[in-house]
Amino acid sequence: MADLELSADAPACAADGVWLACIECGEQFAPFDDVRYTCDDCDGLLEVRYADPPTWDDFEGRGVWRYAAALPFDAGVSLPEGATPLHDVPRLEADLGVERLRVKHEGMNPTGSFKDRGMTVGVRVAQAVGVDRLACASTGNTSAALAAYGARGGMETLVLLPAGKVAAGKVAQASLHGARILEVDGNFDTCLDIVQDLAGRGEVYLLNSLNPFRLEGQKTIGLEILEQFRDEEGSYPDRIVLPVGNAGNTAALYKCLRELEASGALAAEEVPKLTGVQAAGAAPMVEAIDHGWDDTERWDDVETRATAIRIGNPVNAPKALPGIRATSGTAVAVSDEAITEAQRDLAGEGVGVEPASAASVAGLRKLREAGVVDADEQVVCLTTGHLLKDPDAAAEAGEDPEPVPGTTAGVLDHLGG
Ligand SMILES: Cc1ncc(COP(=O)(O)O)c(C=O)c1O
Ligand SMILES: [Zn+2]
Repeated sequence: MADLELSADAPACAADGVWLACIECGEQFAPFDDVRYTCDDCDGLLEVRYADPPTWDDFEGRGVWRYAAALPFDAGVSLPEGATPLHDVPRLEADLGVERLRVKHEGMNPTGSFKDRGMTVGVRVAQAVGVDRLACASTGNTSAALAAYGARGGMETLVLLPAGKVAAGKVAQASLHGARILEVDGNFDTCLDIVQDLAGRGEVYLLNSLNPFRLEGQKTIGLEILEQFRDEEGSYPDRIVLPVGNAGNTAALYKCLRELEASGALAAEEVPKLTGVQAAGAAPMVEAIDHGWDDTERWDDVETRATAIRIGNPVNAPKALPGIRATSGTAVAVSDEAITEAQRDLAGEGVGVEPASAASVAGLRKLREAGVVDADEQVVCLTTGHLLKDPDAAAEAGEDPEPVPGTTAGVLDHLGG
């Protein structure tokens, strides 16, 4: 992989070997002295850096905090999270025609999505910087995770959601865990603009994936996939396929791979190809990859049934695009129909996911059919959220219940007919 850019020498501003660096101008900052989300000098995205990138021997325990050696703290506000299953899906594997297919089901986290991995770290950092009012913009899952982890940490939470565009399960979670929910007349990108303004004015502590500490927690998805796959198969996967919205996971996985390569834990030829999938109605990352751009152009009008990835301005694009390119991956857009079909395919293997999650499998099918993914590849698809997050989409994708009379004879008659 090209261009590691990870300095091994901790600058004077570092705390316990941890600091922040701007990915654009390289300026370095103390990690917890002040609240900052982007570079003071150029407004570029910040990245957490460590004096000692970890190796496999540094990890012990289970879940996100198994990877404490790769994180800024030893422990966090925990429910606990991580240690999600890596499912085999033999029928789907055969149907798609790849040598090996595994599904990393992040819907099995405490609030039903991968966001919990970022929040356990993010809320711990909020404690370290001494704030008590947490906020996020969300397509739903971030709000559910923030509400739960905020509640766990005894902190106030505020979430901004695009009105009418968030799946029912997610709003219910945010509500019951005690978040104050603001339904914004606008899409997710508008919500994020507003919450960034509020954070800039010091009103709230921002826990969207613009916050570099969130991505540290999400990095552990990659660490877990590599360890689980290696323990079962004796090698690392050739490719990791994931749904892309704000491109936080893509950025986090790339950072995971860079750090492992920097420490010598992963050889250059062992680095999996990061492959992003977006819904056709919200695909600025795919557009940027297709055109060779360094950043995305904002899509003002976005639409997809996969509401979790209904995002037109992926803030982590400057971190994620180089990751897709450096790992020789790609990005692809899929239709809502293909997403629903993939949701059914996964459900047929007993793996229940929400629509956005199924995008990874839909994307793999499309790339396999196009010959971009080879038949001899070992692939991991990431499924990011649980089926119950979006019960309406699940009910629409599934079969309707059949009304029957309240007698055994009536039921037998119905089944026989
Ligand atoms: C279920 C689900 N999948 C995928 C995504 C997109 O993740 P990212 O912003 O890391 O690209 C989200 C984010 O909202 C999500 O909730
Ligand atoms: Zn900068």
